Amino acid sequence: MIQKPKGTYDVYGLKGKQISYIEDLLKTLMKNYNYEYFRTPVFEASELFHRGVGATTDIVTKETYDFIDRGDRNMTLRPEGTAGVVRSYIENKMYGNSPVPVKAWYFGPMYRYERPQSGRFREFYQFGVEVFGCDNPMIDAEVISIPVNIYRMLGLKGIKVNINSLGDKESRDNYREALIKHFEPEIDNFCSDCKERFRKNPLRILDCKVDHDNELMKTAPKTIDYLNEESKKHFEKVKECLESLKIDYVVNPSVVRGLDYYTHTVFEVEADIKDFGAQNVLCGGGRYNGLVEMVGGPATSGVGFALGLERLLNAIEAENIKLPIEDGVDVYVIPMSENEESYSIGLTQALRLNGFSVDMDSMQRKINNNFKQAERLNAKYVMIIGETEINSSIMTIKNNSTKEEYKVKINDLVDFFDEMLEEDDCCCGDDCCCGDDCHCDEHKEVK
Ligand code: HAM
Repeated sequence: MIQKPKGTYDVYGLKGKQISYIEDLLKTLMKNYNYEYFRTPVFEASELFHRGVGATTDIVTKETYDFIDRGDRNMTLRPEGTAGVVRSYIENKMYGNSPVPVKAWYFGPMYRYERPQSGRFREFYQFGVEVFGCDNPMIDAEVISIPVNIYRMLGLKGIKVNINSLGDKESRDNYREALIKHFEPEIDNFCSDCKERFRKNPLRILDCKVDHDNELMKTAPKTIDYLNEESKKHFEKVKECLESLKIDYVVNPSVVRGLDYYTHTVFEVEADIKDFGAQNVLCGGGRYNGLVEMVGGPATSGVGFALGLERLLNAIEAENIKLPIEDGVDVYVIPMSENEESYSIGLTQALRLNGFSVDMDSMQRKINNNFKQAERLNAKYVMIIGETEINSSIMTIKNNSTKEEYKVKINDLVDFFDEMLEEDDCCCGDDCCCGDDCHCDEHKEVK
């Protein structure tokens, strides 16, 4: 028996429905925010991630899936989405051809060779956004508002927004000096990775899982104490905008992020849910003003974030949230015998193409079993097709909950279902979108 690779998982049943619901919500939200859908390859030249994500990050040094293709090229399965979108922005010359800012969203699988555990996979899905060409701190706040609104719309209550600032290049350089001074006297007592990080990129020492409890980690200088005036101003405006967006946040100096490209604002949203587990960072992101240039494009500012789908699903489960998943079909078609099957499949297709969700018996069940199947499928209506129906062009339709029976001419079927199903659309009729009385699942989310 061949099994799935370690750190991967299959999707089916409830999880498939939840994911499909979340994908629809993300698409609608991105349309409302006016972000554009991007898709980049799952594998890219390895160099992109070395340059983009950073050659001293754990992701690149320890976790990439690398391979040499049949043309002897070094390739890597993408460990995250930002580097690929930046490459695409540069390669397609969007800095010259597109109106600024360019606002992109993406959703797809990422690959990291990590030790699997709850909320940590080797193949996982990220939804993310990237905004290019806008220095305004307002956009940092807009980007932070996206995951916060997603979590709110899904009904998650236990979330905590942590923000911090690394400042611009000058501030980061000053901070780097301070870190070197801080760790230098004791660096020999740190792990070999940290010694290497000390030489190449001392900021990465702060993510070390081995020396995590060393006293010097706790007393390390804080980035916000090294911000120059310009960077302080940027950060203040981000906070001001978050307040206007009614987003509660905590300034948390320990958020420095595990990727090299950040400048100014960085943020993470944590699941503040009891017993949620170690992988409680639901999403993370920030500004990366030097990245486009580092990857080979013109100096262009950038800001973005990505959230992990699996951790989001875990949080939904931990908070016992039932997503308003539309389950069931509008119509279940029952051919009375094999003779009516080809007619039935034609009619089923016609209804489907008119916008109804329709299923049909393809197992030649007995009539009683077919009614049981209609229950299982949660069908609103059942349409029985026998010889009489075909000869008269008048269909027999049953409302599956009231058991009321209707005779409807074939040419009136679409109007009939339109009318009957419209009534079912919303439990509170015309007032649903604006009135406070609406309790239907769909509109509860909007409020
Ligand atoms: P990241 O913090 O490495 O940032 O990943 C973002 C999110 O992806 C995490 O918060 C987590 O939810 C999820 N994630 C990461 N690794 C795993 C894993 N092994 N299994 C399951 N979920 C995981 C980035 O990737 C940046 N590209 C975010 C960004 C976009 N910054 C600016 N723009």
